Amino acid sequence: MSAKIIAVANMKGGVGKTATVVSMAEALAASGYRVLVIDLDAQANASICLAGDALLATLMARQATIEGFLHDRLLGKRQMSLADCIRNNVSNVSHLNKQLAISLLPSSPELRNFEQLLIYELTKAKMSWADIVNSLAAVMSTHLGKARKAYDFVLIDCAPGISALTEVSIRLADLIIVPTIADFLSTFGLQNFCATMSSRGLSEQVRRPARPPYVLITRRRQVRIHAETAAMLRDEALADKPAFAMFNTEIPETVAIGDALGQTVDAPSAKAKYPIFSQKWGPIVVPLLQDLVDELTEVLDVDRA
Ligand SMILES: Nc1ncnc2c1ncn2[C@@H]1O[C@H](COP(=O)(O)OP(=O)(O)OP(=O)(O)O)[C@@H](O)[C@H]1O
Ligand SMILES: [Mg+2]
Repeated sequence: MSAKIIAVANMKGGVGKTATVVSMAEALAASGYRVLVIDLDAQANASICLAGDALLATLMARQATIEGFLHDRLLGKRQMSLADCIRNNVSNVSHLNKQLAISLLPSSPELRNFEQLLIYELTKAKMSWADIVNSLAAVMSTHLGKARKAYDFVLIDCAPGISALTEVSIRLADLIIVPTIADFLSTFGLQNFCATMSSRGLSEQVRRPARPPYVLITRRRQVRIHAETAAMLRDEALADKPAFAMFNTEIPETVAIGDALGQTVDAPSAKAKYPIFSQKWGPIVVPLLQDLVDELTEVLDVDRA
């Protein structure tokens, strides 16, 4: 069985995309699944959370990163495989005395320059935007097609907005998760974003996504606006021909999540303080992550690990 690919995306920044990717990666791995995280954001937040500063610096120096790979395949000598850039067992977190099986294809701030260079070079070669996205998609799909056999889940952390790489991950994904804060500005344009993402699957060679994007309410606070907006979203998800579906699980705004994301491998006290999955995320978040894993495996029709 090859891995299910999940793209975590939202036009809006700061809604918890990276928090979703990192926590779900660890929760899936704690449930016994083999997980690959692909960081497609030049902020490299998921990379730093999972690999820590020192290892990430080494991988960047070796160009064992997503832009190192794409540069080689699209503008370079075409010698690299995705496996050359995937680092296995990056996590120092354990569950039941076993290290979580998480692999990482990291990003780096250089990704921003690479995306600009790629668009410049390929536009000069008379390629349209659609051609550029198609070339990126072809490379990623071919190479991920081989690599994904080693995993149960591939989680892709997308940058905010819709970059060429976000378009590509949406095309490759079995499921698109849209983390959303239940307030006015965060839900403004959500319908449109979800409809756009679904229609991306309709272009030429590409299959239609099997399911609608799934909204995950994140950073939920016990305030009226969040309650009202969450209820409104759930109504929209049940309407005729909805633009999106929704997870029942909601992720609260809690210091436990901010803290957990800050506990990277080489943070001063990380090893001593948070080596264990249940301690890292704490008693409020762990059961919610378990609920999310259950919903996810049901939506994607994946067997229990
Ligand atoms: N449930 C939560 N409770 C408390 N803080 C959270 C929660 N989720 C995320 N955060 C914090 O909110 C900030 C933004 O979260 P995160 O980086 O996951 O968002 P993002 O959508 O990936 O942002 P970007 O668009 O910049 O990539 C971070 O500082 C993170 O620690
Ligand atoms: Mg992010």
